[in-house]
Amino acid sequence: MKCETFTVIIIVENKDKGATAMGIYYNEKASLFRLDAKDTSYILKIASCGYPAHVYFGKRLPDEDLTYLLRLDENPFTPETNNRDKACYHDTLPFEYPSFGTGDYREPAFKILDENGCSTCSLTYVSHRIYGGKPKLEGLPATFAEENEATTLELYCEDKASGLQIVLVYTAFEELDVITRSVRFENKGENAVYLTRAFSTCVEFDDCNYDMITLNGSWARERHIERAPLHHGKQLIDSMRGESSHQNNPFVALVSHNATEQIGEAYGFNFVYSGNFFAQAEVTQHKKARFLMGINSLDFSWLLEKGESFVAPEVVMVYSDEGIGKMSRTFHDLYRQHLIRGQYKDKRRPILINNWEATYFNFNTQKLIDIAKEASKLGIEMLVMDDGWFGHRDSDNSSLGDWFVYEKKLEGGLKNLVDEVNKLGMKFGIWFEPEMISPDSELFKAHPEWAIQVKGRELTLCREQYVLDYSREDVRDYVHSMMKDILDNANIEYIKWDMNRQLTEVGSQTLPKNRQRELWHRYVLGVYDLMERITSEYPHILLENCSGGGARFDPGMLYYSPQIWCSDDTDAIERLKIQHGTSICYPCSAMGAHVSDCPNHTVGRSTPFSTRGHVAMVGTFGYELDVTKIPQADRDAIPGQIAEFNKYNTLVRTGDHYRIGNVFEDNTWDAWMFVSKDKSEALFEFIQVLGRPNERSRRIKLCGLCPEKYYYEESNPELKLSGAALMNAGINIGNIWGDYQSRILHFIEAK
Ligand code: GLA
Repeated sequence: MKCETFTVIIIVENKDKGATAMGIYYNEKASLFRLDAKDTSYILKIASCGYPAHVYFGKRLPDEDLTYLLRLDENPFTPETNNRDKACYHDTLPFEYPSFGTGDYREPAFKILDENGCSTCSLTYVSHRIYGGKPKLEGLPATFAEENEATTLELYCEDKASGLQIVLVYTAFEELDVITRSVRFENKGENAVYLTRAFSTCVEFDDCNYDMITLNGSWARERHIERAPLHHGKQLIDSMRGESSHQNNPFVALVSHNATEQIGEAYGFNFVYSGNFFAQAEVTQHKKARFLMGINSLDFSWLLEKGESFVAPEVVMVYSDEGIGKMSRTFHDLYRQHLIRGQYKDKRRPILINNWEATYFNFNTQKLIDIAKEASKLGIEMLVMDDGWFGHRDSDNSSLGDWFVYEKKLEGGLKNLVDEVNKLGMKFGIWFEPEMISPDSELFKAHPEWAIQVKGRELTLCREQYVLDYSREDVRDYVHSMMKDILDNANIEYIKWDMNRQLTEVGSQTLPKNRQRELWHRYVLGVYDLMERITSEYPHILLENCSGGGARFDPGMLYYSPQIWCSDDTDAIERLKIQHGTSICYPCSAMGAHVSDCPNHTVGRSTPFSTRGHVAMVGTFGYELDVTKIPQADRDAIPGQIAEFNKYNTLVRTGDHYRIGNVFEDNTWDAWMFVSKDKSEALFEFIQVLGRPNERSRRIKLCGLCPEKYYYEESNPELKLSGAALMNAGINIGNIWGDYQSRILHFIEAK
């Protein structure tokens, strides 16, 4: 069989720049595409028979023909010269988007079921388009960029036999080492076709000398870091829980074995999605690695009738040649500037007090007003009323779905309460769990069929609740109207959007048989739809996401909510690991973190009030305690703590984050820094987890300063030291008496 030659159609929107729009270049002679993002290049080539093949991803390269990297001459079976053993070629070529069933025995990126019930598919190049800016993904969260901030390549490909058009979409960011990818499928053929897998990215590595870093855990123990070298076979993380999950975060980094915070290569992959996902590194027979990420294909299928299309969500890919730390800072900059939206994007968030750990379900109007009165005197700016204000909810066994006020608890109604709180000079926030339905609710009595369920099977309860079928517009509309009634009735300025169980018996009462497997994804699209509606109708409301703590801490959620509750574990020492792990790819400005009471409600540990403040200060900051009941000394400390938070918040929110200690390796201490972008100011925080006998002072090297600049520590303006000395020689942290102690140091440039 002879390979057909492919047709090249180039559409370049930006005419005066030739075949280029800013950072993407097409070398027609070599059929090579070079995507340049800041100091990074990503190169692909249209190889034999029109297969898009991966050439290079790494430090920025000059414009050269790098075809030799594909080692095509080493492969005796290149179809163009020797078609005898085409399957071997398929099994070794580094594909940009590998298909299934024609001899590539590695894991495919997409798979179909055609009208004949067969799953073989193949992907070949047809044409491409390069243009400035970045397209929106219909109905999906994604990073955004102006025309002069990024360039996009759309590679139009086809699976000829089925008539499926597959568009590989790449965007290279001008000022950041970021390439994003997504995929658009359109059925251009005559017959229906099912997508049974539609991942969002595939990156082929020419060797397998990497460690895989993942963020794993459980409820109250989210995003702990694990690192292990790649080995033959497949190493994967995933979620089939209907949410991104406590257990595995949709993030993977492949880093060189020598990579530390400051040196070595790091490739970070983060999925901009909040449902089932899959991320896998596969080491092949030739000791190369294929990395894949996308919607989990287990129990996934999507019917594309003639003319219909499907969009696979975005994967963000970050490259760093200066270790894991620089990779994290690139993610932070990207998410702060190009993902988080809304009025609070660049603003300090109000300091809140949340009544969950203060009262749980046991509160009424008076109790909340008492808390607010005391809190307002201390400088706290917002009262958040958590779970238990609606239906007849006195415990977690009822009323989800009945989003109307529980008058017995909130005597005088919601507006009265909010007005009273506003009179104290405080804002008011409220808790919703809009995706859920309790069997003991008016909503369930009226609409049992609105719960996700499989006909003829018993529904599985979790926290005594079921999940609403958010694929249904009527369900979303109804919840929307109930939420609107509440939001229009009182001056509400913050929502905590919770999601406290995972999905089971995933079946819909309205989808036809051949679309039932679409429900997992349609559910997530439905959640995004309602979040988009609420955030655009109430742009002044600050949305905080939450899912039993941090089970949906993902970039998809960050698109709607500038902050996410990091974990139900508020213990300052447990938070060291949780926040360290979270900061691997998410900005500290997005981490919901509160000072809570002691002994801590999750682990029973008692820590100093100041340490709790210093750890919470790294995030959005607030209180989660009964301020009318805590010890007087703690209450007295709150105004000072708030002043400290205010003093450093701009630095924390906008500066560069450097992890210095590593509690995963040494659990006796931790330290980190925030350095302003102009390097004129830095905050250093140190936590002594355990006091140690006879361990005198500790020398710690600072990071991120300018070596040529001179700095002084605020409490000692006489002593001026160069950034070089502070970073190469370090500072001494004296021996501190006691466990769980904290210190902060503020370095200021000496002019
Ligand atoms: C989840 C949240 C908590 C709290 C409770 C209320 O567990 O993570 O912060 O809101 O729900 O039921």
